[in-house]
Amino acid sequence: KKLIIINGPNLNLLGKREPAIYGSLTFTEFLDEIKNKYSNVDIDYYQSNIEGEIIDKLHEVGFSYEGIILNAAAYTHTSVGIGDALKAIGTPVVEVHISNTFDREDFRHVSYISPNAKGIIVGFGLQSYELAIQSFLH
Ligand code: DQA
Repeated sequence: KKLIIINGPNLNLLGKREPAIYGSLTFTEFLDEIKNKYSNVDIDYYQSNIEGEIIDKLHEVGFSYEGIILNAAAYTHTSVGIGDALKAIGTPVVEVHISNTFDREDFRHVSYISPNAKGIIVGFGLQSYELAIQSFLH
């Protein structure tokens, strides 16, 4: 299986960014663990703080990979462009969020990703990503 995790803006700061909400593990530490645990799965990783770069990456992987795990972070709530990119590509996308966005500000209750996602995993901390990987294995 060839999967990719795509993380949006500010997620490069995981581990030091608002640890009460997002935890104290860095994403690289987490990714190492997950790659060891799922060594039979090919898991690529991409992070960008730039909306257009995320769209470019979706175009690049969206016709060949078997699954995309997308945490578009703040762009989730604003980006018609990323939503349209998901409509354009063929690879199924699972939307993930670390925090429970529905237990937070109203503006986080809107998602341009959800209508174009195969499924949504929200609020399980970094485990949200692992659950998304498992969803592609079953
Ligand atoms: C997030 C939730 C978003 O509302 C926020 O802008 C993020 C992270 C999450 O994983 O909990 O940056 O996507």
